[in-house]
Amino acid sequence: MPHNPTAWWRNAAIYQVYPRSFADGDGDGTGDLAGVRARLPYLAGLGVEALWFTPWYVSPLVDGGYDVADYRAIDPAFGTLAEAEKLIAEARQLGLRTIVDVVPNHISDEHPWFKAALAAPPGSPERELFHFRPGRGPGGEEPPNNWRGEFGGVPWTRTTNADGTPGDWYLHLFTPGQPDVNWAHPRVRQEHEDILRFWFDRGAAGVRIDSAALLAKDPDLPDFEVGKDPHPFVDRDELHDIYRSWRAIADEYDGVLIGELWLPDAERFARYLRNDELHTAFNFSLMSCPWDPALLRESIDTTLASHADVGAPATWVLCNHDITRTVTRYGRAGDTGFSFAGKRFGTPSDIALGTRRARAAALLTLALPGAVYLYQGEERGLPEADVPRDRITDPMHERSGGVDPGRDGCRVPLPWEGTEPPYGFGGADTWLPQPADWAPYTVEQQDADPASMLNLYRTALRLRRELLDAGPTGLTWLEAPAGVLAFTRSDGLVCAVNLAAEPVPLPAHTAVLLSSAPVESADEGGLLPPDTAVWLRN
Ligand code: GLC
Repeated sequence: MPHNPTAWWRNAAIYQVYPRSFADGDGDGTGDLAGVRARLPYLAGLGVEALWFTPWYVSPLVDGGYDVADYRAIDPAFGTLAEAEKLIAEARQLGLRTIVDVVPNHISDEHPWFKAALAAPPGSPERELFHFRPGRGPGGEEPPNNWRGEFGGVPWTRTTNADGTPGDWYLHLFTPGQPDVNWAHPRVRQEHEDILRFWFDRGAAGVRIDSAALLAKDPDLPDFEVGKDPHPFVDRDELHDIYRSWRAIADEYDGVLIGELWLPDAERFARYLRNDELHTAFNFSLMSCPWDPALLRESIDTTLASHADVGAPATWVLCNHDITRTVTRYGRAGDTGFSFAGKRFGTPSDIALGTRRARAAALLTLALPGAVYLYQGEERGLPEADVPRDRITDPMHERSGGVDPGRDGCRVPLPWEGTEPPYGFGGADTWLPQPADWAPYTVEQQDADPASMLNLYRTALRLRRELLDAGPTGLTWLEAPAGVLAFTRSDGLVCAVNLAAEPVPLPAHTAVLLSSAPVESADEGGLLPPDTAVWLRN
């Protein structure tokens, strides 16, 4: 089925729920599905169209649930399958569609397939579902190739044979607890097609595809060589065939496929969004950009042009469960764009400045044509938390040799009400500690403040929806002073963002709809202050 020009997902605002940290229904300090169900009215009231749940499946949680031991069951810490079905149905009644997260590149080492492979001898059919290889060097002591893992380090682990002697190695692009499966094997394809059907049958409206550019490997697993094309495990042509078969299944259900694709080349990225492949994919380019008008504009233009070529809508992302929180990033001196390699402990940030910019960035992204993804806590302006070293759970930290703080700082349990931890989250013993100064980020406090981040998001999402009903398309840049991004859409919305150091005149308008900070009215001269965005009617 070709891309449907009016489908809901083309312009949707989609809210990412990290179930472990959203709300805790049973008081054990870990978020769960009961907690989400109790807070569904909050999500519906926010004004988003869909919820994306990061993995909720049975998992040893070596990588926050991206190590799945059973794709068809909910982790008991989160609830039951029956409860997930209820949640999907209740959300739908409130107008919220559900997107589940499927992890096809790897499974947990606790998954029955991998346990069987380890128990079976080298060369056995059980091991063909993975990438087992003898080591190199005398006695096979060296890993089979020179690849580097996605979290750093060697992505190979050596096994031990039944007789106790050192055995073959297995490939894991992430942690040793996440063995990569062999996508050249028909059983792997069949299994994932069944998993898609399983969740579509339970009412999922879409599937987020984890690490979508990594599944296919060069069958020879050759050494990586800089500049050699194709890459042995990133963005290989075989992937397109896999996603065409997924698309045929999704179309049976009118479901949507959303790829997590970290690819620097916009044209290569767009190839996955052709008519018979994925519907959409996360565009990480904007979030990787510093708070710089020329770079942001270039990112927006490149994104829109490459998507237009294949008739797919763009998507916009400021943060997610892997990314330093927006207000913290934008409050830093120097490069405010996100990069995995650049994360360090104790990087100073001016949170007031970062918050001001994050408010402006919210209005910018919510005005751009396409779909937008929000990450839980973003709508309250949560900063990155400093998680004490001895409480860090993210494997990125350990695999970086302790240099990278990892991603726990953006995964801390949400505050809801009250003035001290656990701020109404649930149990007091939260799985990651909450900062002592998070009371301003509770719904209780932000509800009461018309100028809060939460109320900014609510108003922006409501206006966005009303304006979307008028059917906007495209974007036209307006002439603007240096340092200012200003554009208009076909529905008459004008969005202007001032990234310069001085106030600038507002673009021509008949009404101010919303601004991220107070703007002077036309009578007073009509000025847009620095680090402020405004929505105007022309
Ligand atoms: C994706 C997820 C990330 C996870 C990785 C491995 O990038 O977003 O959280 O660690 O895949 O599954």
